[in-house]
Amino acid sequence: MRNIVAGNWKCHKLMNEASAWMADMNDMMANLQGVEVMVAAPAPYLGVLAPLAGRVGLLAQNVGSNPAGAHTGEFTAAMLKSCGVTGSLVGHSERRARFGDTEEAVAAKVDALLGEGLDVIFCCGETLQERQGGRAEDVVFRQLESGVLRLGADVLSKVVVAYEPVWAIGTGQTATSAQAQEMHAAIRGWMSQAWGEEAARNVPVLYGGSCKASNASELFSQRDINGGLIGGASLTPQDFWGVIEGHPSAH
Ligand code: PGA
Repeated sequence: MRNIVAGNWKCHKLMNEASAWMADMNDMMANLQGVEVMVAAPAPYLGVLAPLAGRVGLLAQNVGSNPAGAHTGEFTAAMLKSCGVTGSLVGHSERRARFGDTEEAVAAKVDALLGEGLDVIFCCGETLQERQGGRAEDVVFRQLESGVLRLGADVLSKVVVAYEPVWAIGTGQTATSAQAQEMHAAIRGWMSQAWGEEAARNVPVLYGGSCKASNASELFSQRDINGGLIGGASLTPQDFWGVIEGHPSAH
């Protein structure tokens, strides 16, 4: 089982700050074992950060789904790979809500990344309204169904799921460990139905949404939570290290 703590800087930091973060993070994690550390950086920095990434897996936050061609402003999975990027977030709720990432578009991005052998960090999660309406599981299932449950066993080693309840992202309002575990168990169940129990056990499911040093260890100790996707608390290496150290498998 891969244990993963991934940062998501979103649209933050300038180039020099990003490089300094990589250097500091690599110093801090020099002796770390048991947990993979990744960070999703803004696209303009990826080629510069790749040779500095060291033990940090370098992710993009988005990818185009078209092959190379006349698509001004887009970039392909092959371009990411040629920069030394190891994978990308796909379907983050901010992209679904504000940048037109429909379920079809998200699925096409998943396929584009897997076509290049890159890691897919597939984000899913319900809004507050959907949760209050009793539809949280339906929504998350639908996202997973079109995004990843349709995939074949041959690509599962490249797939990571991140459950991020939209109401917990950047709000300081974390899901309780019981709420998070409940959804993670449901996700594990759907994955088992799609791929069989053993394969499903090996696909990491990360929690995201106001996860920080003070709540990481409780969340990451839940049976079906294999790590986290961390926004605000990944912006400084010190804060992020506090989250990583909270993982029960980190040593
Ligand atoms: P947050 O963001 O940790 O700042 O809530 C998580 C995310 O959106 O990936």
